[in-house]
Amino acid sequence: MSSLPSELNARVAVVAGTDPELRAATKPQFGHFQSNVALRLAKSEGKPPREVAQRIVDELDVSDLCEPLEIAGPGFINFRLRNDVLAATAEEVRVDDRAGVAPAAEPQRVVIDYSAPNVAKQMHVGHLRTTIIGDCFSRVLSAVGNTVIAQNHIGDWGTQFGMLIEQILDEGTDVSALSLDDADALYKRASTHFRSDEEFADRARRRVVTFQAGDEESLEIWRQLIETSKAGFNEAYARLNVLLTDDDLAGESTYNEALPDVVADLEARGVAVVDNGALCVFTDGFEAPLIVRKSDGGYGYATTDLAAIRYRVQELEADRIIYVTDARQAGHFAQVFAAARKAGYLPDGVVAQHIGYGMVLGPDNKPFKTRDGSAATLSSLLDAAEENAAPEIALAAIKYADLSSGLQKDYVFDPERMTKTTGDTGPYLQYAHARCNQILRAAEAEGFAVGPIALVDESAEQTLAMALSRFGEVVDHLAAELQPHKLCTYLFELATAYSAFYEQCPVLKSGGDVRTSRLGLVAATRDVLAKGLGLLGIAAPERM
Ligand code: ARG
Repeated sequence: MSSLPSELNARVAVVAGTDPELRAATKPQFGHFQSNVALRLAKSEGKPPREVAQRIVDELDVSDLCEPLEIAGPGFINFRLRNDVLAATAEEVRVDDRAGVAPAAEPQRVVIDYSAPNVAKQMHVGHLRTTIIGDCFSRVLSAVGNTVIAQNHIGDWGTQFGMLIEQILDEGTDVSALSLDDADALYKRASTHFRSDEEFADRARRRVVTFQAGDEESLEIWRQLIETSKAGFNEAYARLNVLLTDDDLAGESTYNEALPDVVADLEARGVAVVDNGALCVFTDGFEAPLIVRKSDGGYGYATTDLAAIRYRVQELEADRIIYVTDARQAGHFAQVFAAARKAGYLPDGVVAQHIGYGMVLGPDNKPFKTRDGSAATLSSLLDAAEENAAPEIALAAIKYADLSSGLQKDYVFDPERMTKTTGDTGPYLQYAHARCNQILRAAEAEGFAVGPIALVDESAEQTLAMALSRFGEVVDHLAAELQPHKLCTYLFELATAYSAFYEQCPVLKSGGDVRTSRLGLVAATRDVLAKGLGLLGIAAPERM
């Protein structure tokens, strides 16, 4: 749904012949919006700005939306939306189960590759971000009517299993009894062992070969490591309250059987060529080629990603594929996409995008570390936030902090600031939502009617009504551009408009149609806040 401001902007653009760039008016007496388009056009048209403004005002018919237009000062055009129109738009949001979020005209099949932790390793702070961001994308893209297919590309294959298996056999460990923490510790012991003991390192390398050739004893240990890790990942997902389930698992090993076929196909069609013993895809604009088969015959991360793209396009029938990883993998994905295009695995009609995110920093502005100085695990971050607030609120704090500044930016993990119920925080929005509910509960107890929204005479009511009408558009924009911070900013503005309304316009103490209409505004605000928080993956508790 397009909001009143965008609708108006679009209609003025037709008459002006250029984007009028409507801005919120600086003072209430200037109406709701102002445009300086006449001043800009005056130069090219060689006419005085006020004359240009007059021409636009004469040609423009927006009487169905606005009060009569005014020309001010050197040639600004002032727009004041009609009260009845504002009330009607807010009312539309109130009665709509979807609060103005319309289904996409052309729904797509969207694959989202996110979370993707690695087997036998704890999830770290980077995985916190991809999991939260990917979950938000998943919720938003489904909300606008797409079919979302989550793909959790866990690291469940690779040469590290050689040393892990050897270490397990050396120690006589019962893998089925390990927790993910234990497996992580075992991983560390295996790496140390590998670096310090040549004989062990040799065995580990030979084990990679027997394991990858299908040795049953090795495979059994590998399977158990995956089970153990999965249990740990699922615990983290439950704690994070994200949508991922075992059905979304499609780890690197999923593509093992396809790899020889992909590579043979690339070679047969001349897409890949042998260079210095390695099979390579050369792509324009990249210095080094993408290696799809190493000179020792092994396949790497890139080969798996090519096989995954082919599968996602051909089997999952994706129209759009989104990868959420830390920003440092941007180069890898750009090159994988280029190679996949060259190979025809990624047809022109299918969009592939890498959404990279920045780092989580500690109070010292360096990559976040736990108190004992080790790299922060996901659970240590959650623990830190829960020292400051109840779990539901701590989680809101973390998710909001993660999503509310541009994804590419690093952000400082500051539990005390993030959990405050004032300022631009997740808990503040939860609190605004809970306050709406509190009023609605009181209204219900008194038997007061809630809505329709029919009167918005006060400027605070108008601002709130306008904010409510923008929700659908903000969600559409997020689905297209994948910038969650814009939804966060919007919700913060809505909560701020609500606060001003609450201070300036008595609700329960007013009477008649005014009270009914104001209660309608409260209900619509509650719904939009709850839906908006829901799209961010944040709970909206009834009471706080
Ligand atoms: N497991 C990788 C990591 O922890 C992320 C995988 C991302 N997805 C992909 N298709 N490569 O960094």
